[in-house]
Amino acid sequence: MRVGVIGGGLMGSGIAEVCARSGVDVTVVEVDEERCSKSQAAIGKSLDRGVRGGHVSEEDRSAALERLAFTTSLDDVEGADAAIEAIIEDEDLKRDLFKRLDTLLPDAQFLASNTSSVPIMKLAADTSKPDRVLGMHFFNPVPVLPLVEIVRSIMTSEQTIDRAHQFAEATLGKTTIDSQDRAGFVVNALLIPYILSAVRMYESGFAAKEDIDRGMVKGCAHPMGPLALADLIGLDTLLAVSQSLYEEFRDPSSVAPALLNRMVEAGLLGRKAGRGFYDYSS
Ligand code: 3HC
Repeated sequence: MRVGVIGGGLMGSGIAEVCARSGVDVTVVEVDEERCSKSQAAIGKSLDRGVRGGHVSEEDRSAALERLAFTTSLDDVEGADAAIEAIIEDEDLKRDLFKRLDTLLPDAQFLASNTSSVPIMKLAADTSKPDRVLGMHFFNPVPVLPLVEIVRSIMTSEQTIDRAHQFAEATLGKTTIDSQDRAGFVVNALLIPYILSAVRMYESGFAAKEDIDRGMVKGCAHPMGPLALADLIGLDTLLAVSQSLYEEFRDPSSVAPALLNRMVEAGLLGRKAGRGFYDYSS
């Protein structure tokens, strides 16, 4: 099987790695050579970590690297068996991309988006076969977290849903849950208001950020606290999801706190930027 992964950022690289580790040939498409190299390096680093942790053999690591190709030309995914889109959360760019994928991959089993904020129906609307478009929502870090949300739009066919389940479970070894095409899907609709509450709590001086995070780790056995998790997700993504939730449900719990807006404007996007609620520069 050959899959095109469009976007080699945090999520795209993780998705590409998991596919390659599962025996799938992957073509990763990025906007420039520098980003291609960055994605390649990130996947190499993550595979090395997998080897060190005893999750991946040296042999499987080399085989996975051989299955990966990196390109700046979308045309190179032509004829692939499926595509998974993981570009930035820009609706116009995504819609345009799905139109192009529709033409380049006429026989693809499915065209999936890893979006966490754009309705799947909007991506399917301009394609000739909206029945084969769906959401496949992975979780960060993709090689570690087992879940994939399978998101059906009102036009997605049963066959597409079955194929996506088959791919996520049998091929990638992930666990799936189903969601309707509603902002946030299942997990983010629950998770994002919680993280925003933590930002508001910190912003108001209610408690120190370390205490908020330690409270949820030690008091509720979460693997990390909400502000550390915001840094892991990326504050720009957190903001985009909160805006999509608010747009859909108009619930005050999804309104982005002013501090989150200011941090995104300042480029304090979390781990990937070296600084967010915490400092990752050293
Ligand atoms: N690649 C490969 N393996 C990795 C990895 C990566 N990028 N990151 C961690 N690992 C492995 C490590 O090798 C380690 O394996 P080992 O214990 O067998 O050696 C294991 O995962 C744990 O890693 P660490 O010991 O380095 O660190 P922690 O135990 O502190 O775990 C964590 C780190 C996995 C990030 C954990 O804190 C966690 O699960 N946090 C919650 C993450 C979460 O909630 N993610 C969902 C975000 S929401 C989202 O993505 C949706 C979006 O739309 C917003």
